[in-house]
Amino acid sequence: MDATTESPVIVALDFPSGDEALTLAGRLRPEQCRLKVGKELFCRAGPALVERLVDDGFSVFLDLKFHDIPHTVAAACRAAADLGVWMINVHALGGRAMMEAAQDAVQSRPRSPLLIAVTVLTSHGPETLQEIGLAADPQSQVERLSDLAQQAGLDGVVCSAREAQLLRQRWGDDGVLVTPGIRPAGSARDDQQRIMTPRQAMVAGSSYLVIGRPITRATDPHLALQEILRELGRA
Ligand code: C5P
Repeated sequence: MDATTESPVIVALDFPSGDEALTLAGRLRPEQCRLKVGKELFCRAGPALVERLVDDGFSVFLDLKFHDIPHTVAAACRAAADLGVWMINVHALGGRAMMEAAQDAVQSRPRSPLLIAVTVLTSHGPETLQEIGLAADPQSQVERLSDLAQQAGLDGVVCSAREAQLLRQRWGDDGVLVTPGIRPAGSARDDQQRIMTPRQAMVAGSSYLVIGRPITRATDPHLALQEILRELGRA
């Protein structure tokens, strides 16, 4: 079954077991959100869980951030696409040839997911970038890698909501900008430093909002999602 949601909310299923992820997914509706499966859950529960979520009607963002030689990344992208997921990603630092190979691989499949790039991990600052030989400041490095992803034919990038306005100008209306670090007004910041509310992030130009703990740790996850959709005028 294909999901048909227009919801901009992607719920991050950051759980250490498939059972916990399925319990949470069971409390949400595919018409109201998409789901993100990252490295921990994928290593614990594997492709079977991803296929189960897809079969349950959810649009799944498989957030595995591939980064390897072009041949290997292309093969991984084909395998990911064949799980029926809605979106996958790679590291733009893998370079133009790697991203082009990834996009060709995705386009060769019967069900082509969106393909987006990670530019600079938000855990990096100027010193740690310098340490790995990237002398540019983080902001110009983000712009450079975002432009490279665009030239390689990708659909968009993961970025902080604070970068969304600038990157929206560079990508135009069609670029897919996926932003984490979202906190509804009044909810706990957890370990996120530079946050925006769902509405602020959409106004800044985000296409999709990755939201984890404000929904997954809520007493009533369905209600927490409803409140976010209401704030966005989509309830
Ligand atoms: O619980 P929370 O809303 O903070 O979860 C955010 C999700 O987005 C997590 O899965 C986290 O790994 C991911 N993420 C992030 N910051 C980035 C990239 C991804 O928080 N720069």
